[in-house]
Amino acid sequence: MVEEFKEGLEDVIAAKTQLSFIDGKSGILEYRGYNINDLAKYSNFEEVTYLLWYGKLPNKKELQNFSKKLRSERKIDHSVIKILKTCSKNIDAMDALRTSISYLAQCDEDLNDNSFEANIRKAVRIAAKFPTIVAAFYRVKNNKKIIPPRINLSHGANFLYMIHGKIPSDIEAFAMETDFLLTAEHELNASTFTTRVTVSTLSDLHSAICSGISTLKGPLHGGARTEVYKMLEKIRSADKAEQYILNLIASGQKIMGFGHRVYKTYDPRALIFKDIANKLAQHFKDLKWYDISVKVADTVIKELVEKKGKPIYPNVDFYTGAVYKYLKIPPELCTAIFAIGRISGWVAHCLEQYSDNRLIRPLAQYVGPHNQQYISIDKR
Ligand code: COA
Repeated sequence: MVEEFKEGLEDVIAAKTQLSFIDGKSGILEYRGYNINDLAKYSNFEEVTYLLWYGKLPNKKELQNFSKKLRSERKIDHSVIKILKTCSKNIDAMDALRTSISYLAQCDEDLNDNSFEANIRKAVRIAAKFPTIVAAFYRVKNNKKIIPPRINLSHGANFLYMIHGKIPSDIEAFAMETDFLLTAEHELNASTFTTRVTVSTLSDLHSAICSGISTLKGPLHGGARTEVYKMLEKIRSADKAEQYILNLIASGQKIMGFGHRVYKTYDPRALIFKDIANKLAQHFKDLKWYDISVKVADTVIKELVEKKGKPIYPNVDFYTGAVYKYLKIPPELCTAIFAIGRISGWVAHCLEQYSDNRLIRPLAQYVGPHNQQYISIDKR
């Protein structure tokens, strides 16, 4: 009986979606039918966000208008800055982000309006402010002056500008922009699923985004990036990488940035990130972080895939370690950067859920005992 129940559950589809398609065996990812490799090569974060939210690629005018709206909402006001300054400096940027979005909810005039139009207005405001909040918190935490956003820079370039205080080179801006684009959407990953569950109760978009941030924070999801970054710092040179990984495997530890619930081959995004890391390494004439990453990946594949037959390949997070090293992004921002990209997918899934809603309520398989005799507290 129990086994039958379990078997039936294996095929449960938690939601229908038109947003992304993943073929985990062949390593294919599409956003609304467009291959991720093409989008990474020819598109940008704003266009991909439009595609995900409106269901079609924008024409020139539509993209200009959308981009203008997003850029005009980048600024955060003094009340948000005050909150960021009040937050403990020991918290993660993800905590600061969640706190700020929760605060922004109560002053949003559309808060409890769940119509498509109101949700787009709220989504534009939230998505535009994500990078500003993350960068401002980072600057406050490090006793640096907050740098206001610029509207004449792309999403990626503007974020790097607000972090470092100088306009990034083209290759740096491209790397950051592509990072946001690559992480924008990925079907029912844990954080996206949480956002869908939240709005399926007809709760509001800000609440769903807070759920998403909270779920992405964990080290088995978005938090893996920070761990990869720290691992590269611990390894320090490519000739030490193999032994470091062999030790991790021997002690039964998981290697961060590897393995995936859906991909059983190369994650296509990991290959794009690898290429970006290589381009940055060449640009800065510093191969160190790229070489360590390649050596780590080669060792994991040799030891786990080839020798043990486990499909543990680099996932989307792995090469971000090297990319962020070259972009001089501090480790404490790795997960928040993931959130800056993923907000597009979260919103798109919320819009899709609202448009044809049914409460998401999975079943649990009860595996405890039945009919235990109750004994009152004074007799126990
Ligand atoms: N390093 C070493 N072994 C790994 C591994 C990794 N990164 N990921 C999975 N495995 C092994 C497990 O130890 C397990 O081995 P076993 O069958 O001998 O017990 C097997 O592969 C299945 O692992 P499991 O954790 O059950 O797979 P999952 O589909 O539930 O997990 C992840 C997917 C992503 C949670 C998992 O691969 C992981 O923890 N990766 C590291 C964290 C990470 O990079 N997260 C970002 C995901 S995008």
